Amino acid sequence: MKKQVLVTGGVGYIGSHTVVELQSEGYEVFIVDDLSNSNIEVLDRIEKISGVRPHFEQFDLCDRVRVQEYFQKHDGLEAIIHFAASKAVGESVENPLLYYRNNLVTLMNLLEAMGQYNVPSIVFSSSCTVYGQPEVLPVTEKAPVQEATSPYGNTKQICEEILFDSISAYAGSVRGIALRYFNPIGAHASAEIGELPVGVPQNLVPYITQTAAGLREQLSIFGDDYDTADGTAVRDYIHVVDLAKAHVVAISRLMEHNNKKPLEFFNIGTGTGLTVLQLVKAFEKVTGVDLNYKLVDRRTGDIEKVWADTTFANEELGWKAQSSVEETLASAWVWEKKIRNIN
Ligand code: UFG
Repeated sequence: MKKQVLVTGGVGYIGSHTVVELQSEGYEVFIVDDLSNSNIEVLDRIEKISGVRPHFEQFDLCDRVRVQEYFQKHDGLEAIIHFAASKAVGESVENPLLYYRNNLVTLMNLLEAMGQYNVPSIVFSSSCTVYGQPEVLPVTEKAPVQEATSPYGNTKQICEEILFDSISAYAGSVRGIALRYFNPIGAHASAEIGELPVGVPQNLVPYITQTAAGLREQLSIFGDDYDTADGTAVRDYIHVVDLAKAHVVAISRLMEHNNKKPLEFFNIGTGTGLTVLQLVKAFEKVTGVDLNYKLVDRRTGDIEKVWADTTFANEELGWKAQSSVEETLASAWVWEKKIRNIN
């Protein structure tokens, strides 16, 4: 029988790519998503890629009773990958309670149900935002967690603590892996699924591709006076499919009891840092598009530079990001062109 995995937020950007990778490794996928920041058509697209339609229910995981009913009904679930969360830094400053409720309560409801219904494994979407501005780069998992600069960032830190305390209390019956993502970009090679932000994109790559597609007039590059090679900020951009594959590896590590601790933390990045300008130039080179951009003031709350030391993930998980940044940017452009009907 196929192993059953619940993917919360499985209709979203990283979730949908992970569902496809899980299916290709033979898992039976169950999705719960409230569709607050995603589109139901993605289910058709997942089915088009894999030939298998994941099971799907639409509801808000903040609803504790509903969560318990769900687990009662689905008694074959062996693991959870928990993506469902709010993720816009700026919005979290304006509406912190939305973020604390959505991001903390959903995790608490799931952890409670895992104990009640004997679901032993959880993979949690964390973020390199927990490191703040690291003193030593590339940053390892041993670097201290620093005070968060936004309610969003704080929810990721608190969620890691909730996981740690709950898993300790479960004393072996529940195990978890927190994956600390760097900057996921790009789209599936089929161009059936990709990133589709609602409204004006807050993140760099969708802003770049929408500018190239003519939807936005000009890209603003936030900050040109950082202490970096060209003055623009440095990030570690990872192909979303490489990131998705890390989840499959993490799930199988937990299911096969290969984890070394009840809760483990891994950096999921490429190990290479690129400045914003380097990324823009790479995009122009692979696509042949001249991007209209200007250098403007820094964005409040941004950190200067961060990229991952991936040694621990590479050695312990046996996982490594495979795609070059050129391939990744090309995939983002193919996806943007496809959804805008550009040839
Ligand atoms: N940037 C621009 N112009 C834009 C958008 C972004 O210059 O229009 C710059 C930013 O200032 C930053 C870099 O591009 O220097 C990357 O910005 P993103 O918004 O794409 O990504 P961040 O690194 O700021 O944030 C991402 C996720 C967060 C997460 C954080 C750390 O969006 O959810 O990584 O994990 F918290």
